[in-house]
Amino acid sequence: MYNNKIINVFNKKNVSSSPIWFLRQAGRHIPEYFSIRSQSKNFIDFCLNTDLIVQSTKLPLKYYNIDAAIVFSDILMIPWAMKRNVEFVKGVGPVMDPMIPNETEILNDIDIKNLLKPLDQALKILRSSIPNNVALIGFAGAPWTLACYMIEGHSTKDFLLTRKAVWSSNNWFNQLIDSLIDYVVDILEMQANAGADVLMIFDSWAHMIPSFFWKDFGISPTKKIISILRKRNILIPVIGFPFKAGSSLINYSYESGVDCLALDWTVDLNWAIKNINPNIVIQGNLDPASLIDNNNNLDKSVKLILDTMNNKRHIFNVGHGLTPECKIENIKKVIEIVKNYNN
Ligand code: CP3
Repeated sequence: MYNNKIINVFNKKNVSSSPIWFLRQAGRHIPEYFSIRSQSKNFIDFCLNTDLIVQSTKLPLKYYNIDAAIVFSDILMIPWAMKRNVEFVKGVGPVMDPMIPNETEILNDIDIKNLLKPLDQALKILRSSIPNNVALIGFAGAPWTLACYMIEGHSTKDFLLTRKAVWSSNNWFNQLIDSLIDYVVDILEMQANAGADVLMIFDSWAHMIPSFFWKDFGISPTKKIISILRKRNILIPVIGFPFKAGSSLINYSYESGVDCLALDWTVDLNWAIKNINPNIVIQGNLDPASLIDNNNNLDKSVKLILDTMNNKRHIFNVGHGLTPECKIENIKKVIEIVKNYNN
C-alpha cells in the first residue's frame, strides 16, 4: 500500500495532522466544471462518460492540496439503472418516475455492473493516474435515501409517501430495500475492485426515518451491505454518513459496521467524542456555508475542530457538500490551516 494519510488514519498509523478532503469537491464551485459538463447532453450521460468522469474527479486536485479524490458519479445512478427515468432539472434537482405502491416488477434483476461500466473504467484509469498519496473514494447512496427518491420521484419537505409506505408495513417496501441492498453491494464491490481505496455510503435523508424504524432502515441495510462486502473479500474502509441523524448516530456508530462516521455540521464534536464508538474514525464537520462569504471566524472554527479532535483519528471535511457559492480562496485557506496545524 502507498503512503496515504487517509489510509494511515484507518490503519492506526501516526498521522501528524488530520487528512482533508471535501464533500462535493468536484462540483459547481469550480468554473471549469461547467465546461466539462457541457461536453455531454445531460447529467446522466456525463456520469456515463469515462473520460469526463476522470476529468471531473481530477479537477479539484488542480486547485487543492487534498488527501482524497471522490469519483465523479451520483447516488441516483442506481435508480437510473433501475429504469426510473432519472433526470436532473435545472433549478429543481433530480426527478424520476415515482414508484406506484406495490409495484414490484421494477425490482427484476438488472446487471448494474454492466450498466455502470464507464464508472468501473474511470476508477481504473484514476487509480493509475492520480498520485499515490491521494486516496480514491468510491460511493453509493444508502438504500433508505434511494428509496425516498424512488417513491417520491423528487426531493420533498417531509417524504410523507415514503414514511407512509414504511408504516403500512407491507412487503413491498422491504422488497425495495432488499433489492437496493444488492445493487449497492454490487456497485461498491465493483468500485473497490477497480481501485477505490475507501468506500462511502451517503444516507442523506436518514433524518426522515421514524425512530421506531431506525434500526430496520437506518442501521440494518448498511450493516448487511458491509457484511456482504466483507464476505466477498472487500476489506477496504467504509465511511457512513447518516445525515442529521442526531442521537441515532450513537447506535449507528456501534452497530452498522462502518469504519468511519461522517458527521454533519450540526453535531457538537465534544458530544461525539463522549458518545460515538471510540474505535471508529470521525470525519467532519465544518459548515459548508462558512465558505461562502468573507468569514472572520473561519480560522477560529477550523482550529476548534482540530483542537477538539487532537490525538483522535480524524479526517477533516465539511459537514455536507460544498455548494456552488463556496469560494475557492476560502477552501484554500481551510486547507492551509489544517496542513499547518501543530498542536
Ligand atoms: O464531488 C463529489 O462529491 C463527487 C460527486 C457526487 C455528486 N453527487 C455529483 C453531483 C456525489 C458524491 C454525489 C452524491 C449525492 N447525489 C448525494 C449524497 C450527498 C448529499 O449531497 O447529501 C445526493 C443526495 C445526490 C442526489 C443529487 N444529485 C441531487 C439532490 C442533485 C441536485 C442538487 C444539487 O446539489 O444540485 C444532484 C446533482 C449533482 N450530483 C451535481 C453534482 C456535481 C450537480 C449537477 C449539476 O448541476 O451540474
